[in-house]
Amino acid sequence: MNPLNHVAIIMDGNGRWGLKYKNSRNEGHKAGLRTVEKIIRASIRNNIKFLTLFAFSTENWKRPKNEVSFLFSLLENFLKNKINDLHDKNIRLKIIGIKNFSKKINKLLSLSEKKTSKNTRLQINLALNYGSKSELVYAFKSILKNKDSITEKNLSKYLFTKNIPDPEILIRTGDKKRLSNFLLWQLAYTEIFFEKKLWPAFNEKDFNKIIKEYKFIKRNFGKI
Ligand code: FPP
Repeated sequence: MNPLNHVAIIMDGNGRWGLKYKNSRNEGHKAGLRTVEKIIRASIRNNIKFLTLFAFSTENWKRPKNEVSFLFSLLENFLKNKINDLHDKNIRLKIIGIKNFSKKINKLLSLSEKKTSKNTRLQINLALNYGSKSELVYAFKSILKNKDSITEKNLSKYLFTKNIPDPEILIRTGDKKRLSNFLLWQLAYTEIFFEKKLWPAFNEKDFNKIIKEYKFIKRNFGKI
């Protein structure tokens, strides 16, 4: 059976779900957050060590202002209300992406990371203002600045995902088959699961089904 440490997820479909069932994209994001909580619990039950969630891309700034501010207010409330609970459950929160949000959000993110930094049961990597291409450019620039040699191992050390093993599984919900500038380097050998369901409709049963399927895949890594 394949070992499993790290699951990454592109949580797509909130907007469509919200429009279809609540006539509001933002209601879709709210429902999407409930799925996030379900999948955190499911990850613990599956003894997964890293869960990486694509919550906001560098391209998402182009969305209407009201949607962007709604997403950040969701994030703010989530952290304010749930960080103690995450901490009690021995969950670590790490942000991957460039933290150039409002002062208030930056502070909340840093405090949440700091508070949970020693936790070991599950690490949630929340991708916020994250774009894989800019991550790679930043990594190459840092290598040059440090006069380090350009090797695969070195490059990995300069990414936001430093010290995090590459995901064995990527799930994208929402019935679209693309990577959307997410973890392009880290996904080189990842098993990819495209899921038709929209993120708010995705549940623990769907998650477990993917994990079960993954466990029996013959992974070759270029060999035979
Ligand atoms: C993509 O769906 C989803 C997002 C851009 C935001 C993801 C946010 C959440 C799941 C909730 C907030 C999470 C936290 C941790 C606070 P979309 O809006 O692109 O959907 P669409 O393709 O149907 O338009």
